[in-house]
Amino acid sequence: MDVVAAFEEGLERGASEYRTAFEEAEDEQALRAANARFVGPSGALTRLMKRMRELPGERRKEFGQRSNQLKQEIAAAFHARLDGLAAAAREAELSGPHLDVSLPGRGRPVGRLHPLTQTKHDLLDVFVEMGFDVADGPEVEKHEYNFDKLGFPPDHPATDMQDTFFVASEGVESEARAVLLRTHTSTVQVREMLARKPPLAVVSAGATFRRDDDATHSPMFMQLEGFMVDDGITFAHLKGVLTHFLQRIFGRDLPVRFRPSYFPFVEPGGEVDMGCTICRRWQRGDAAGECRVCKGTGWIEILGCGMIHPVVFEHVGYDPERHTGFAFGLGVDRITMLRHGVPHLGLLYGNDPRFLNQF
Ligand code: PHE
Repeated sequence: MDVVAAFEEGLERGASEYRTAFEEAEDEQALRAANARFVGPSGALTRLMKRMRELPGERRKEFGQRSNQLKQEIAAAFHARLDGLAAAAREAELSGPHLDVSLPGRGRPVGRLHPLTQTKHDLLDVFVEMGFDVADGPEVEKHEYNFDKLGFPPDHPATDMQDTFFVASEGVESEARAVLLRTHTSTVQVREMLARKPPLAVVSAGATFRRDDDATHSPMFMQLEGFMVDDGITFAHLKGVLTHFLQRIFGRDLPVRFRPSYFPFVEPGGEVDMGCTICRRWQRGDAAGECRVCKGTGWIEILGCGMIHPVVFEHVGYDPERHTGFAFGLGVDRITMLRHGVPHLGLLYGNDPRFLNQF
């Protein structure tokens, strides 16, 4: 089409179309889009005006004026419609329902520590008060540190595939060199003793793993380990520290008893029972009856302990003739359940906010 005809048609069409286009725009965004179709960088009028130089000289002035005039009209109409839309929006807001400034705001939920983590911190704090250092150890561990250095014989049932998660690792010819998920935190005894010299008082807590899965066992659970080594440490120190610890957590009147038991890395070894904090039989003085937690005995088994076996000292290069020490390990899950009356272990690992928000 020849350029003069293109100008005639373009200006006419623009003039006849912009009003309706603006009126049909129902909000600012639509209005701006309509405006851009005429005078935006690639709008119809903009493109036309770029062709001004192609016009024969004698028509240029006339078309120039007509184009500019249309452009101004469009700009005026655009701003008028913009003001109109803003006024209408404001009118709608004012005549609509009132904004209730007394409504409470929508809060952002703030996170919190998981009850297991909270309990872990509380337990560690009691030992820190007594002067223990806090140490850490890896969850993926060498067979050697989890079993061999602790004096487990190579055929001990705990080292079995039934009980332990082994980590597939290349080039491992013997079980003793295998890698596994630690089955207890006693690994930290080995690591710390290899790295440091007595006197030592260390606690460590973290995840441990065994191939168990039922109402009271989870394949991942949490243990806390503590040990002390020096010249002249005796079983009396062990009793004092553990009794103080348990009574600090559960109350000064909590009964605590020590029973002999076996762990390869302690001699003598023991287990500690404490009064059942669910039925509190020691306070009531009568038979415990139906308590499901202590099965009517009034006692709950809470930790394993003992005097560190001389063989462990030999494995870490300590002189067993000179040094003695004690060690203990306990389940942080079990203490958390007893403290808060949590009926099922699974609740602690289910991460259901309906449960967790109750703490
Ligand atoms: N590691 C033992 C267990 O997991 C507990 C324990 C630790 C026992 C330290 C004695 C001394 O069962």
